[in-house]
Amino acid sequence: METNFEEIISCFLERRVGISNDFLPVELAGHLRNNLLRLYKNEALKLAGIGNNHLLSHEKEIRNDKIFWLQNENSDQYEKAFFDLVDAFVLHLNRTCFAGIKSYEFHYAMYEQGAFYKKHIDQFKTDESRAFSMIVYLNEGWKVGDGGELKIYHAATIEIISPKNQKCVFFKSDELPHEVLVTNVKRMSITGWLKTTL
Ligand code: OGA
Ligand code: NI
Repeated sequence: METNFEEIISCFLERRVGISNDFLPVELAGHLRNNLLRLYKNEALKLAGIGNNHLLSHEKEIRNDKIFWLQNENSDQYEKAFFDLVDAFVLHLNRTCFAGIKSYEFHYAMYEQGAFYKKHIDQFKTDESRAFSMIVYLNEGWKVGDGGELKIYHAATIEIISPKNQKCVFFKSDELPHEVLVTNVKRMSITGWLKTTL
């Protein structure tokens, strides 16, 4: 666990994007994927908005994933295990980097076939509390051709990240433009933000 945290943080400090390929244990990733698929079948996932929850019609041209916010109170044993992992990571981040993270928010995300999220920055213009973005992927057996890669726009280069099962990606929310390329298969993840306010 600690070695994964160290890997994410050192990779982040070196290249602005921290990655761990096996952040989620494979069993946990499977259970979280089942949760997400169950919510999807029950039509509990809703089209995501862009800023501050106002869903405007044009927003579907920017993103068309469906999301469900995780709630600490209603979480099942697997979501609790996920939050325990995030808590341990935040503790590590605060201890080693004085990051000052006080809270977080996470949602499940389902990108159906053909879905995407155009180039954007995660921090709301009106709210600076989102310090870090964190995404974990739940795509068992992802392969080249499935699409849905995360494309990161560094100052001079572009980085393409495959949304492979168990992987975690971590970066600062206010600086790195990024996009989700069109996916050709269902693309599942948990996406969240570590915040400097409660
Ligand atoms: C987002 C986002 C990236 C991903 O939800 O803001 O950029 O790889 N997600 O799912
Ligand atoms: Ni984003």
